[in-house]
Amino acid sequence: MQIFKEKALLTTYLKTIWDKNCAIGFIPTMGALHQGHLSLIKKSLDENNYNVVSIFVNPTQFNNSQDLEKYPRTLEIDIEKIRTICPDCIVFAPSVDDIYEGKTNSKSFNYDGIEHEMEGKHRPGHFDGVGTIVKKLFEIVKPTNAYFGEKDFQQLQIVKKLVAKNDLKVNIIGCPIFRESNGLAMSSRNERLSIKDRDEASIIYKTLLTAKEKFGTKSANEVNNWVKNSLEKNENITLEYFEIADETTLKTCIRKSKNKKYRAFIAVFIDNIRLIDNISLN
Ligand code: PAJ
Repeated sequence: MQIFKEKALLTTYLKTIWDKNCAIGFIPTMGALHQGHLSLIKKSLDENNYNVVSIFVNPTQFNNSQDLEKYPRTLEIDIEKIRTICPDCIVFAPSVDDIYEGKTNSKSFNYDGIEHEMEGKHRPGHFDGVGTIVKKLFEIVKPTNAYFGEKDFQQLQIVKKLVAKNDLKVNIIGCPIFRESNGLAMSSRNERLSIKDRDEASIIYKTLLTAKEKFGTKSANEVNNWVKNSLEKNENITLEYFEIADETTLKTCIRKSKNKKYRAFIAVFIDNIRLIDNISLN
C-alpha cells in the first residue's frame, strides 16, 4: 500500500499511472471509515486498475466549529481497514496546509439551485466547502471514476453538477446506502451515539419505509404531516426536516407527477448528534 501525506509526492507517483492510460478509481472520504465507506472502495476495486482513497477532514465544509473539532480522526485504524480489503490501494491523507496553502476558504459555486434545498438551507456554506475540496482533489488525483454514496444524496447531485459545469473529465458513480442491521444508515457520527440512542435511531429508517408506503396512496403533504406527528411522540428525537423532493432538481414535491422520480429526505438530532438519511420513493 502506498500512503502519501503531501500532494506533490502523490502526483509524482500518479504521473507514472496517468501515462499508462489505466482506469483510476477515486474514493474521497473524511476518514473514521466504516462498512459504508468500504463498500465504495470495493466497488471501485471491481471497476478500476488503480484505486485512490483520500482521508481528509475538510474544514471548509463544516458550518459548526464544534462539529469539526469533534469529528473522529482515526488515520492508523482507517489505513488498516483499507489494507484488509485493498492491499494495493493508494491512500492520500494530506494536511490542511498542504491542501489549502494557508488560505482555508471556500470558493463560491452555482449548482443551479440544488445548493439552496435541504442541507443547503440548514448548513449554510456546506456545499461551497464540498465543491471546493472535491474540485481540488479531482485536480490532484485526475481519476477516471469517482465514487460517492447515496447516503449523502444531495452531495452526490451537487458533485454531478460540479463536474458538468466545470467540464471535469471524471465519471461520478453513485453507490447504495449501507445500513446497520437495525436499518440505521452507517455514518462516522454513529460512533458518538450511546447504545440506547443507536437503538432508537432505527426509527429513522422505519419512518422512511412507512413514508414510502404511504406515498403510494397519499399526497406529499399528507406524508409530511404523518412523519412530523409520528416523530414528535419520540422525546429523544428532534426532527430538523423531512422533505419529499424531485430526485434531480431536489425541489419540494407539491403535487405528484407520474413522470418524475421522488426521494424522501430526513435530518434529525438525537442527543445533539445530527443524522441524515433518504430513500427512493419510486
Ligand atoms: P464522508 O462522510 O467520509 O463520506 C465519504 C463517502 O462515503 C461519501 O460519498 C458518502 O456519501 C459515503 N458514505 C458515507 N456513509 C455511507 C453509507 N452508509 N453507505 C454508503 N456510502 C456512504 O462525504 C464526505 O465524507 C465528504 O463530504 C467528502 C465527499 C469526502 C468531501 O470532503
